Amino acid sequence: MAQRSTAQWALALAVLAVVAGGLWLGSLTWFPEIISSHGRGVQKMLDFTLIATGAFFVAGHLALAYLLLRRRRGTEKVSRRAERLTGVLPALLMAFAAEGGVLILGLPVWGQYYGPPPKDVLDVQITARQFFWVAHYAGPDGMFGRTSPGLITTESPIGLDPADPASADDWVLLNELVLPVDRAARLTLHSTDVIHSFFVPELRIKQDVVPGMAIPIWFTPTQAGDFEIACNQICGLAHYRMKAALRVLSAADYTSWQQEQTAETS
Ligand code: CUA
Repeated sequence: MAQRSTAQWALALAVLAVVAGGLWLGSLTWFPEIISSHGRGVQKMLDFTLIATGAFFVAGHLALAYLLLRRRRGTEKVSRRAERLTGVLPALLMAFAAEGGVLILGLPVWGQYYGPPPKDVLDVQITARQFFWVAHYAGPDGMFGRTSPGLITTESPIGLDPADPASADDWVLLNELVLPVDRAARLTLHSTDVIHSFFVPELRIKQDVVPGMAIPIWFTPTQAGDFEIACNQICGLAHYRMKAALRVLSAADYTSWQQEQTAETS
């Protein structure tokens, strides 16, 4: 009997070591780097959710194993009061952990993410369409040209109205978004057909794009580099290839990129 129980303990410890080792190795690589100022806050919320639900999961299974073993040894009955208590207490604990996480960790990030942006924010209109992304910049005049669904053609994917003087210096990029580093950017998301989702894991941003709505999100990229914008909502047969490039440039590179764009449109 003693021999058997030693073997059981050894097996349990081995399983625990493998699980812990796997989690530790995975935690080193399973999230991409963070390249936005609010990204740490979102990451904290993700970590908290994982740890809290993971702890409840493990605790629940340990309690289940304990009760099963106890039940096998004896035949004692559980009182109604104990039954109610074991039902209500975990529910209260879970609600406390979930709401506590939302209020303490989640709300400040939410406020930063959906609150008012700084004054020097760079505005870009983003249009999602089966199956590509369009970025629309106001150009040197700082005014977006009028767009109209009736004017949408293959050449003009967002239906920019050439009759509007503000349109003349606008820049329209297909499957590319260029932003300067360390400056707040506000994207206003539009869809011309179905629901898409704007997803850049490194920015820790995922926002649905809904037809008929203009949805603003703002953030500050903190690292220059090339990243991928993915559509994260099944939106049709070619959903899998609906992606765009996000290029975050240094302030100097962004200024020269702006000058190139202006030279092209004038
Ligand atoms: Cu757009 Cu999936």
